[in-house]
Amino acid sequence: MLILKTVAEVKNFIKNVKEADKTIGFVPTMGYFHKGHLALMKCSKEQCDVTVVSIYVNPMQFGANEDFKSYPKDLERDAELAEQAGVDVLFVPEDKEIYPEGFNTKVEVGEDLTKKLCGIRRPGHFTGVTTVVLKLFNIVKPDYAYFGEKDIQQLLVIKRMVRDLNLDVEIVPVKTMREADGLAMSSRNAYLNPDERKAAAVLYRSLLKAKKAWEEGERSAEKLCDIARDELLCEPLAKVEYVEIYSYPDLKPLDEVKGAAVLALAVRIGKARLIDNVILGVEK
Ligand code: PAF
Repeated sequence: MLILKTVAEVKNFIKNVKEADKTIGFVPTMGYFHKGHLALMKCSKEQCDVTVVSIYVNPMQFGANEDFKSYPKDLERDAELAEQAGVDVLFVPEDKEIYPEGFNTKVEVGEDLTKKLCGIRRPGHFTGVTTVVLKLFNIVKPDYAYFGEKDIQQLLVIKRMVRDLNLDVEIVPVKTMREADGLAMSSRNAYLNPDERKAAAVLYRSLLKAKKAWEEGERSAEKLCDIARDELLCEPLAKVEYVEIYSYPDLKPLDEVKGAAVLALAVRIGKARLIDNVILGVEK
């Protein structure tokens, strides 16, 4: 596995891959790998000739009071895991490679997708994500790029950017990987102490309770959210940020859940802000 640090090195590598007519799969990450990341890499390996993974904790997508400075890092372990996963290139740029002196451009997807859910609570977050992801796409020029369904709004925002800007990359959604108790895998789970970690199972439990009610015929968006919120409120360590339902995939507000919908939530437990979601009404 090659570990490359500069845009020029990656572009040069990609040029040769393109000349050999090979397909490129790309997994953009912020590192501190868990099984969710490894599942993205596995999908890329299965589908593409060459797999590129980036590790970059992107300052532009963090708010002033967020965890940019404390975001967990372990490059040595990440490199070992990526190597074992059969990754061809690990791109680990420094800030000056991504945001050189004078950088002053933003890529912003419209408010219909970005001014709700996490977009309201983390102003500027999705602009940071789309700006860095478009830059990474322009550097890596992937045929396929892999994103986890845990960050469902991010996935939908990136799909919209790709469609609206006619980018030649196919976005491949990958199922959320979960711990045995249902907790969605996330690098931020590392912030949880043992009690908080136990408490964090409440996120998926709440989603499943609402999903069961939906399966049994409940169609009121408000009631479904209440069912999930009531379950969250049973856990004293959980501070609910939001529980919301929107149509899927266009994220329109809903009173009645008639077609496909996404029930999503964000909860703070200790120092961690955790998100999760379930999709209702889509055959998987
Ligand atoms: O999901 C993430 O880890 C990040 O938002 C991403 C897509 C790597 C962009 O920084």
